[in-house]
Amino acid sequence: MFLSDSHQPTLLTPRHYLDGNVTEREIERGFIPGWHLVGVSDEFPVDGGFRTISILGRDIILWRRGDRFVCFLNVCSHRFCALTAAVKGRFLERLRCQYHGWEYDESGQTRKIPDAPAFRPLEQGRLGLVEYPVATVGDLVFVSFHPAPETIESFLGEAHSICAERCGGDWEHVWSWEPTCDGNWKLAMEITLEGYHTVAAHEGTLGRFPLPREEAMTHLFQDDSHTGLMVGFSDSDHPEISRTSRLIRRLGRTPEYVYHHQHAFPHFGVIASDAYAIAQAIYPVGPDRHVNLYRMFVYRGHRPSWRGRLLYPGHAAGLRGFWERVFAEDRAVTSEHHRGMSSTVLPNGGLMSRREERIIHFQAYVLGISSDAVETAGSKPRV
Ligand code: FES
Ligand SMILES: [Fe+2]
Repeated sequence: MFLSDSHQPTLLTPRHYLDGNVTEREIERGFIPGWHLVGVSDEFPVDGGFRTISILGRDIILWRRGDRFVCFLNVCSHRFCALTAAVKGRFLERLRCQYHGWEYDESGQTRKIPDAPAFRPLEQGRLGLVEYPVATVGDLVFVSFHPAPETIESFLGEAHSICAERCGGDWEHVWSWEPTCDGNWKLAMEITLEGYHTVAAHEGTLGRFPLPREEAMTHLFQDDSHTGLMVGFSDSDHPEISRTSRLIRRLGRTPEYVYHHQHAFPHFGVIASDAYAIAQAIYPVGPDRHVNLYRMFVYRGHRPSWRGRLLYPGHAAGLRGFWERVFAEDRAVTSEHHRGMSSTVLPNGGLMSRREERIIHFQAYVLGISSDAVETAGSKPRV
């Protein structure tokens, strides 16, 4: 069921997608207070494992210590060199800066400073690393750049229970992808907020399935920064669906036949069905580029039948290949969307159908965090 009775004008103007000041305001007001997906715990299988990543202008290092994770700015307090250039690796007891060898413990405090007397007088505890809060949900690992962020539960909203249930445990992490993509980050979010594009932009993948009927769809606007979609389906909708649900039963799960897509603004979403879950986060890199971070899980079952066990590897590889193609198609069309948006002349238009109404919810959120960075002008074309 859709919530609006008619189409609606788009709320954002092209400037919202092209102006670097808007991006900065969005980062400051929308992203910094939130939580950011940075990986999955099995990507750090051993104590001391680390990964580095650059998001939202911050180079960070995420470090496993026993069963917990700590996160620091990947910048040394001595003279601000990156602690390590490696994307991943292992630091056993201490992080060690690659430049002069300063060492830090898991609380971020200096533990060893070569030739320390030369730095006299040293004030204890003043030269620690910048630390960021870390939270895990299922096997997903999130960091925040806010010193006192809201709880991860309230940030994720309904996505929290989906991730807790389906991103870990009996759901196997099968795929990680972090491409840097052309186009404004909001266009990458918007393509995830409607399924109307699937017929044309995903002709050989999602477009093989018919657009769901309105009666099968439920749009949810939970609050200003959370929206969800549920689509009911059945075995009779498509032979691939009935094949998959047979296998899901063999793996030990009774299918619920619901496709979920839940968003936490500004930049997080999770897709989930009986067979798989995909967590996605989108990070701006300036106004015209973004990083798309994906982590995919496939239901492997608790006590699968022997036939389920036999069929699972091909099933998981098929799902992974399918969604890899889908996201590559999204990526290509998002870049073209940005190109169109950058034109100095635009036709009349800027309409959202009822099927696309969740984008209006997102755009209203964006206006709330960036309204004073650009004057809103409805959907007037630029000539
Ligand atoms: S900059 Fe890190 S030890 Fe000198
Ligand atoms: Fe898509």
